[in-house]
Amino acid sequence: MGGFCLLALCGTIFWPLVKHGENTRSGLCLWMALIGYLTISYLLLNRLLNQMLNPEPPLINDSTAPTLMPARNPNSNIYETRRLLDEYLLFHYGQPAEVLPWENGPREALGFPVRTVMELIDLPRTLCEAVALDLGCAVGRSSFELANFGVSVLGIDYSQSFVDAAAALARDGSMEYERVDEGSARTALVAKVPENLRRDRVRFEQGDAMNLRSDLGDYDIVHAANLLCRLTDPLKLIERLPSLVRPGGQLLLTTPCTWLEEFTPRGNWPQGSTREWLTSLLEPHFDLSKTCDMPFLIREHARKYQWSVALGMRWRRKV
Ligand SMILES: C[S@@+](CC[C@H](N)C(=O)[O-])C[C@H]1O[C@@H](n2cnc3c(N)ncnc32)[C@H](O)[C@@H]1O
Repeated sequence: MGGFCLLALCGTIFWPLVKHGENTRSGLCLWMALIGYLTISYLLLNRLLNQMLNPEPPLINDSTAPTLMPARNPNSNIYETRRLLDEYLLFHYGQPAEVLPWENGPREALGFPVRTVMELIDLPRTLCEAVALDLGCAVGRSSFELANFGVSVLGIDYSQSFVDAAAALARDGSMEYERVDEGSARTALVAKVPENLRRDRVRFEQGDAMNLRSDLGDYDIVHAANLLCRLTDPLKLIERLPSLVRPGGQLLLTTPCTWLEEFTPRGNWPQGSTREWLTSLLEPHFDLSKTCDMPFLIREHARKYQWSVALGMRWRRKV
């Protein structure tokens, strides 16, 4: 449409000139100038229209997707970036003073990957030789915590770089990384799996929580922290959960209910409260035995943090 208008406009301006110089050298020059002018105008107009119809995607800044995601690019996975890897190593393994140097900061929000296990697990009813599955395990801290209660823990995450880091931590017990202080200022730190945790009981693999391998088996404990609202189709995981948790077993779920179209198409969001949606889907197979609000803090840099409150739930698989 734009191209057509431009063509008509240029035709109106240049046609009399062309007519005037017909069959002459100047006529030929005018034709060439006209063609060049039209080509450049067409390209510029095309670019302008493209920009208007497909504006640059917004930068995401939410509690669990902290940085610079080119939101419209389906091939990009922010959880594969070095920045997110460093951010999650700090989130999972940072000492309180390394994460939050402010006296008056929200200290109760620290240690989230430890608390999702310790505050949600039903200790008296946990078998001493439980097997556990940690879905969306990221760099693995909750998986190591779960190992204190089980003979074996499998951590699964979609991000290969997170899984590689978690596996390196299981093997070596520590890993170097960098913390962002501000701008390009960084501090070199070391992530360490606490000595008391059984690294030898934990293994990690890359996988998709919406399409888990069929021979995954079933578990006494399934832990999925802040995963649901990062899935394109959370229902696919929710429907698989009854077969992943053994009768009498525990499902430890948390979600900050941060639904974003960049991760989950709007049609796959809960139509209302996430708590009610989960309850209606899980109740046929599980009994709800605990709910709590769980604050957590992700550091972007020394002066900027994301403070969120996840909904924590413990479900027991019906026998
Ligand atoms: C918000 S983080 C939470 C990580 C960790 N559970 C925690 O509480 O710190 C979401 C995690 O889910 C992972 N993830 C996203 N989509 C996934 C999928 N389809 N299958 C498995 N993991 C996925 C991401 O790589 C990331 O590690």
